[in-house]
Amino acid sequence: MISQRAKNTSPSPTLAITAKARAMKAQGIDVLSFGAGEPDFDTPSYVKEAAISAIQSGFTKYTPTAGIDDLRQAICDKLLEDNGLSYRTNEVLVSVGAKHSLYNAILTLCDPGDEVIIPSPYWVTYPEQVKLADGKPVIIETTDATGFKITPQMLESAVTAQSKLLVFNSPSNPTGATYTPEEVEAIAGVCESKGLWVISDEIYEKLVYDGNRHVSIASFGSMRGQTVVINGLSKSHAMTGWRIGYAAAPAEVIAAMGRIQDQSTSNINSITQKAGVAALKGPQETIDEMVVEFDRRRRYITHRLNDMKGVRCLSPGGAFYVFPNVSALYGAEAAGKAVAGSDDLTEYLLAESKVAAVPGSGFGADAYIRLSYATSMESIEKGMDRIGQALAKL
Ligand SMILES: Cc1ncc(COP(=O)(O)O)c(C=O)c1O
Repeated sequence: MISQRAKNTSPSPTLAITAKARAMKAQGIDVLSFGAGEPDFDTPSYVKEAAISAIQSGFTKYTPTAGIDDLRQAICDKLLEDNGLSYRTNEVLVSVGAKHSLYNAILTLCDPGDEVIIPSPYWVTYPEQVKLADGKPVIIETTDATGFKITPQMLESAVTAQSKLLVFNSPSNPTGATYTPEEVEAIAGVCESKGLWVISDEIYEKLVYDGNRHVSIASFGSMRGQTVVINGLSKSHAMTGWRIGYAAAPAEVIAAMGRIQDQSTSNINSITQKAGVAALKGPQETIDEMVVEFDRRRRYITHRLNDMKGVRCLSPGGAFYVFPNVSALYGAEAAGKAVAGSDDLTEYLLAESKVAAVPGSGFGADAYIRLSYATSMESIEKGMDRIGQALAKL
């Protein structure tokens, strides 16, 4: 009954652990969740007000599939102002979250058998979407020893005659690794010389620390002509539930992505679109406030983790995740059973200390676990105490 395609699609470990933690909480268990990939801040009030006024004024009908003109224009203005990238409105497509934008882009650019290069640790969704498009994920492995970044040489040696695309994600989920402008330029150079298209997932661009500056790979040389820039408001404006993401690319690509969206979902929610215009055009100070708070938590959590037995944690340059290497703990015994990898370790942490973390296995990196610090400082302090005590028992 179930298609091969559906059978081959893995569930998201992040959503799975979040659901498990939520179910435990519902039973009255005091679980601290470090699983969530969403800001713990509220959506700014001026965004909510725009949505309420959209409902009250009856803006509740179908819109053009690609999004209303105002919204696409606001996205073009944002791309010019923040990224120095000039797009027209017919080069922008608004979709149901950046996840949907990515899926449209992969379905549009990837033919069966095409190779899609994905640096690991990767966001769990990339290889699954490539498989859904009958493409072949080609993984370039990186580790904490090299800051979780690929080099131009690593990219060059992964390219074959079948290579079509690179999925590039800086700042990265799950590692927080953030490429410098010079590093991005060097990667762009390889893509240009090899004719490799890039899907550049820039959803965490606003969340950078230590003076890091985000630059889009599309801004180098002729890369604008072979890049699909993916972004959205989920992380920057604390709007995960509203479902709004977008892609910017040459008109021919956007038109093809639009055809796929026409035949699958049509436009995103009309009310969210009005909220999106308000978010992009309104005051952006809430982002700065969020970054200051995330930075405080990032420093604290990194410091605490590095003090724990068997844990080695790089200080991430962006996003809101830490991705500590916990492989020194593998082989230890927990409840009479050896901890063989990240799945066992996260299970142990949930059972022993009521702390939910995501195993690195789903991100293609079993030596690590992912903790999101998009949760209150109080929870982080408590959670670090609990994890420290649980690991000390191993
Ligand atoms: C790297 C990355 N890209 C895209 C997304 C999707 O975001 P959205 O909520 O806009 O679909 C996420 C969400 O966790 C993410 O981590």
